[in-house]
Amino acid sequence: MSETLVMCTPESFSINYEINPWMQHQTGHLSIELAVAQWHRLFDLLSSLAEIKLMHGSPLWPDLVFTANAGLPLTREKKFILSSFKHPQRQGEKIINRAWFEDAGWVCIDLPDGAIFEGAGDALFDSSGRLWVGYGPRSDDTIKAHLAQHIATPILPLKLVDPRFYHLDTCFCPLPDGYALFLPTAFDENSCQLIANGFGDKLISLTPEEGLQFCANAVCVGKAIILNQTTPRLKKLLVDVGFSVLQTPLSEFMKSGGSAKCLTLSLDGWSTRHD
Ligand code: ARG
Repeated sequence: MSETLVMCTPESFSINYEINPWMQHQTGHLSIELAVAQWHRLFDLLSSLAEIKLMHGSPLWPDLVFTANAGLPLTREKKFILSSFKHPQRQGEKIINRAWFEDAGWVCIDLPDGAIFEGAGDALFDSSGRLWVGYGPRSDDTIKAHLAQHIATPILPLKLVDPRFYHLDTCFCPLPDGYALFLPTAFDENSCQLIANGFGDKLISLTPEEGLQFCANAVCVGKAIILNQTTPRLKKLLVDVGFSVLQTPLSEFMKSGGSAKCLTLSLDGWSTRHD
């Protein structure tokens, strides 16, 4: 298996604060038993396709389960740009993320004080090595300049304008062979244009309904796309261009504003060395 993903055990996941619209009024409405079962189904599915490395959850940091937000791996250099979270409710995750990555032999990089960056939730490499970064609701608009200190490939900033799609990975998903999924209404006009120019006729626009099912929050391993739920329309579009689509329900994590992609962190990012 050539791909490696980091996941975090789900037993300490909970919803007891509100930092995105999906979490509103969800305190007390989470079934942890169902969440754990859904996480294990996702884990089992992904284990058959990729190597999974595990972090351990902490009751102090219930959103730690969303490993996409730990940081951004620069794979060839084995460097890891640590996230600095916007909300105090997640800021303590940084210490845990640093310890885990250092133990695993990665060199951790801190962005300057005050910079807000939420990792692979807001920074996604496409199949030609460009890095697309989302800013606005979480990561701030200085992020491109900070990341450019460490990354030589082009960095394209995208402004997120719908609070429900507060991380880039909730509304945009680069796929192999130049394809990408995106939800147009989640971006400002310039950003839509940038995405349209960047992917041409390999860009697949999601309907509002698909956006709300978090169809863009998909994990892609090889040609397999794993997501919470798809529609017959989207499935056909993807199958017609050679992908397979696997659904696995993640309703309990959706209550926290996360789905398949948020629950994983790929360690196989693009090479980004300056030389
Ligand atoms: N409740 C978490 C938050 O609001 C969900 C994070 C989802 N992660 C992601 N990569 N989109 O921060």
